[in-house]
Amino acid sequence: MQVTASAHRVHLFSPLSSPALSLPSAKHCRCRYRNAAATTVRMGLREDGPSVAVVGVTGAVGQEFLRVLSDRDFPYRNIRLLASRRSAGKRLTFEDREYTIEELRPESFEGSTSLCSAPVGRLAKSSVRWLSNGDRSWWIIVRRFGWFRRCRWLSRRRSGKGALIANPNCSTIICLMAATPLHRHAKVVRMVVSTYQAASGAGAAAMEELLQQTHEVLDGKQPTCKIFKQQYAFNLFSHNAAVLSNGYNEEEMKLVKETRKIWNDMDVKVTATCIRVPVMRAHAESVNLQFEKPLDEDTARRILEGAAGVTVIDDRESNHFPTPLDVSNKDDVAVGRIRQDLSQDGNQGLDIFVCGDQIRKGAALNAIQIAEKLL
Ligand SMILES: NC(=O)c1ccc[n+]([C@@H]2O[C@H](COP(=O)([O-])OP(=O)(O)OC[C@H]3O[C@@H](n4cnc5c(N)ncnc54)[C@H](OP(=O)(O)O)[C@@H]3O)[C@@H](O)[C@H]2O)c1
Repeated sequence: MQVTASAHRVHLFSPLSSPALSLPSAKHCRCRYRNAAATTVRMGLREDGPSVAVVGVTGAVGQEFLRVLSDRDFPYRNIRLLASRRSAGKRLTFEDREYTIEELRPESFEGSTSLCSAPVGRLAKSSVRWLSNGDRSWWIIVRRFGWFRRCRWLSRRRSGKGALIANPNCSTIICLMAATPLHRHAKVVRMVVSTYQAASGAGAAAMEELLQQTHEVLDGKQPTCKIFKQQYAFNLFSHNAAVLSNGYNEEEMKLVKETRKIWNDMDVKVTATCIRVPVMRAHAESVNLQFEKPLDEDTARRILEGAAGVTVIDDRESNHFPTPLDVSNKDDVAVGRIRQDLSQDGNQGLDIFVCGDQIRKGAALNAIQIAEKLL
């Protein structure tokens, strides 16, 4: 239970109620030192590193960005911490240095040569435009493929070694971490995904709402509904993303479109049902796969055991399979319930159950792993 408590505590701060935020210091992050015994020189802060700007730094993803930068000793020359006007002026300690949070403005990226960013919804587009104020080589890593494709002006302005990269949506990342190694082996022709998505996917305020509602319901009070329109504690409901004219919601369509794009296969059939469940952190997904070639469950298990970023938790005897708590604050996606789909002939179908920390692997870590490749 201790692990559970600490896994959640670090994300339950309120941006509005924390005058001074504190993030990883050399003391308690998994930093690598040149000389473990004596020195406290950090590898992260170095003159030849890029300038980094973190947008939405007070939010769930922004906080995780800082944690991951620190955990991985991502090199940086300097770092700018950006949020809304509400947070401007607040102090934040990161790696033993104190920073002042700045309001995101058009000039925020001046002098930045590169950038990892967690822009918020509608703001994302403006912050990408403002990026053109930065130096020659830069990149941005955010979440949605959709409107990036429409930002044609960006490719015209792109120069130097920089690149503009959209991080996929968190549900897609978690699903495809497990499905892709199998796809590479036997080619997926159809995928059916059902998600069980945590509060953290909707940001820090949604996590607070779930906590508050849980207390209220237990106290016999009416739950306060601000972020979601309906009671969240002790309940579950269809994902809160906008429902489109085809009956799918935006979250479901991201899984469809992004899978096709990532696998570079416009013919793969994907359908999804996305559900919000009252779990604080980390998404779970049930994934049914149909393959072009036969793939038995033992081979699938071996493939997954050898896949980077994947941990297999598949203990039938003790009925132990992945849970959101198993993966909270972890880099790896966990996969289990690996079994032949009885409804499909010829070993051409598999069911798997995947859990992943969508703030970490589904957002911050994935983005920083991409940035590391670009360094
Ligand atoms: N949570 C996830 O699991 C996840 C996963 C993948 C992608 N994403 C995406 O990542 C982005 C951030 O999500 P989140 O979960 O971190 O949200 P969040 O917890 O609600 O945080 C939102 C952040 O955006 C800032 N912000 C709001 N309005 C702003 C403005 N006008 N100018 C500048 N900053 C502003 C907030 O600053 P203040 O504190 O000052 O208001 C806060 O830092 C979203 O686009 C989300 O879709 C989230």
